[in-house]
Amino acid sequence: MLFALLGSAIVVPATNPAAAAPGRLRDLAQAAGVKIGSAVRAAPLNPDPAVGDEDYRDWAREQLSTLTAENELKWDHVEPARGRFNFAAADTIVQFAHETEQTVRGHTLVWHSALPAWVSALSGDQLEAALQTHITSTVSHFGSDVAIWDVVNEPLNDSGSLRSGGSQGFWKDRLGEDYIDESFRWAHAANPTARLYLNEYGIESDSPKARGLYELVKGLLARGVPIHGIGFQTHKLETSRLSGLADSLRRFADLGLEVAITELGVKLLTPAGGDSLGRQADVYGWVTAACLAVPRCVSVTAWGFTDRYSWIPAPGAATMLTDQYVPKPAYYRVRDVLAAGRPAADPVAAWRLDEPAGTIATDASSSPQRHPAQADPGALGHEGRQPFLRAFKGNGIDSGATTAPAESNAMRTNVSYTLSVWIKPASTTGDQVIASQDGANVSAFTFGHTDGRYYLAVPLADTTDAGVDPQRLFSQTPVVIGQWNHVAAVWDNPSGHPRLYVNGVAEPEGPLWNRETWASTGIFHIGESRAGQHFHGSISDLRVYQRALPSTEIKALASPVVGQWGFDGHTGDDSWFHRDAAARNDATVALLWATDRKCQANKAISLTGTQLIDTRGGAPLFTDRSYSLSVWVQLADTDSDQVVLAADGTSISPFYLRLKRGTGDDHRWIFAVLNGSGTQQVVATSEQKAEAGAWTHLVATWSMETGQMQLFVDGTVSGTNTVLSSAAATENGSLHIGVSQLGNLRGAIDDVLVYQQVLTQPEISALYLQYEPSRCQP
Ligand code: XIL
Repeated sequence: MLFALLGSAIVVPATNPAAAAPGRLRDLAQAAGVKIGSAVRAAPLNPDPAVGDEDYRDWAREQLSTLTAENELKWDHVEPARGRFNFAAADTIVQFAHETEQTVRGHTLVWHSALPAWVSALSGDQLEAALQTHITSTVSHFGSDVAIWDVVNEPLNDSGSLRSGGSQGFWKDRLGEDYIDESFRWAHAANPTARLYLNEYGIESDSPKARGLYELVKGLLARGVPIHGIGFQTHKLETSRLSGLADSLRRFADLGLEVAITELGVKLLTPAGGDSLGRQADVYGWVTAACLAVPRCVSVTAWGFTDRYSWIPAPGAATMLTDQYVPKPAYYRVRDVLAAGRPAADPVAAWRLDEPAGTIATDASSSPQRHPAQADPGALGHEGRQPFLRAFKGNGIDSGATTAPAESNAMRTNVSYTLSVWIKPASTTGDQVIASQDGANVSAFTFGHTDGRYYLAVPLADTTDAGVDPQRLFSQTPVVIGQWNHVAAVWDNPSGHPRLYVNGVAEPEGPLWNRETWASTGIFHIGESRAGQHFHGSISDLRVYQRALPSTEIKALASPVVGQWGFDGHTGDDSWFHRDAAARNDATVALLWATDRKCQANKAISLTGTQLIDTRGGAPLFTDRSYSLSVWVQLADTDSDQVVLAADGTSISPFYLRLKRGTGDDHRWIFAVLNGSGTQQVVATSEQKAEAGAWTHLVATWSMETGQMQLFVDGTVSGTNTVLSSAAATENGSLHIGVSQLGNLRGAIDDVLVYQQVLTQPEISALYLQYEPSRCQP
């Protein structure tokens, strides 16, 4: 195999490898809606064959859609002596990019490193003037050819404060904290259409540095500083774990900013051991996938694409190609991840409706035009369907939220669309509207419920004339009040059939409707219609898609899963809530991966009693409402009590799912629930004994309605008890995986799922039957 040759002499393939590759990175990236790029150097890009490297030029041209000058735009290169500008090397790169229709990320205007000696000698007004001139001249020189700038690079300490002291504290110490605001303002003045970034490393998880940056950026935005994006450098090792990356990207994106991976590289550890290149590929893949998972992540840039020209050449060999341009597994992994694309085409409008208070419901979609909705006072900030989520609450009389006329036309009604929403109806009285959009005279669609059934109604024309009845599809499933339900309405224009879904299940398809639906241009209403029909109850996560979603996607949107940790070589949460898990002591303990129950390597997490795995971002479920926990566990031993899952409570966990060691071989699984007043722990003990070595499937359920606790072992009920109330989990707490004061787990854990509902026996059997022992011969 080619990769085994890494490190020994590799013969350059006779044909250009890029041309031979099935699917170029840049095309796949374009289809996925991101750019793929690399840091490049002017010398090998030089068109003069005596200077340049034809293979390098070919590969960059074929595969990349964005370039970053690795060093050529740094201050010591562009203005080595005061007033003596030299853009020649940078121009080579920009010219190449121009010819090959690539964008250029301008890197970087303000950094404590790569400063020419004359700048280091300045201070005060002189330094400030020099900085302004540097920014203005550099940005102006390139004009629209460089439309993205890393204005400020690496301003923070690992602790999250601005660097100060020594050479690294140069800017803050000599100019004060203001230097960041001013740099962005000067760059903006020099090119008002450029996208301006702050670029940083060590922010790929919820680190003190990421939190410090978050506060810094919030301050910049509050002061009206023109900042548009955050660059995540992402220099990593083959052993790095990126479970928090998507969340961290999303946190900054939620401030309304673009985000980008700007300097991706994955260094091999030396001596290269075992599957070093496979691990390197994993990290490349995770990073690319994290970017794709965040709609506002616009690009993935590697810090060099071949070890031939890399700041980390062999043996660290951090790039995707050997020094002979032979693709490593990392290249194929990035290609595969790009080919899979973004997880799902984005909604054109998405009101999460989880504002804590106030009257503005933010549109969290990645649509170029956002449609914030003005909510009636008091309608926002009510209890949501999960801890930390808030919801809109309509009074059924006069409450609602509307987009502004100037920002109208949140969706087009004359082409396919899907409306997806979570609601908790408070009553079934009257005609209650969940969402509608205005035409000139009538609503272009109305989605709501009346007479205890959900409906989608679309009038044939924008007229109030009697005799023009709207086309209306009703659900057969009745409206259930007092609980959270997912409902979706689909207008599938090409097929002409409307569809309704209740809790992810399709209702019988509607009749053929007139496909010449008219386009409305009016405001979008949440929880009401222009005709004064108001919703009574709670609304959360209302999304509008400009396409007919297939039933599989609707099912995913309606999923009762509120946390999903598959531990497939990472600790990320694959549910909608993205509460990634991480090692509590990740600075000192490396994560280990185990073979899962299907004999697949690195698809389960291995715990030795010292790894403390917690979920992040708040409690994943309400423990004082009905819930279910599902987990696969393989004990290494039964020598002591060991906890599989536990949640944060005030002093005692609201539940423990754990091993209870007995005498002899009489070890049992127990599910313990703390009652609502915190005075008593009620225990369901398994009839089945717990054994070391075997993969075991555990499910624990508690029903708020009946108080029933059930413990299932390998798909069948093995223990029950009753407790009428259950203690609440701490809202900002975590789910502890394989860890608690009662004893950390020694063994392996896989596929942790949490549900905010009681699973039924068939659902639990189905989860167990995902175990296919026949396929697995260890
Ligand atoms: C590096 C270059 O790759 C090297 O060639 C140079 O000697 C030093 O700088 N973070 C950054 C980049 O923002 O500018 C750095 O680039 C790598 C770390």
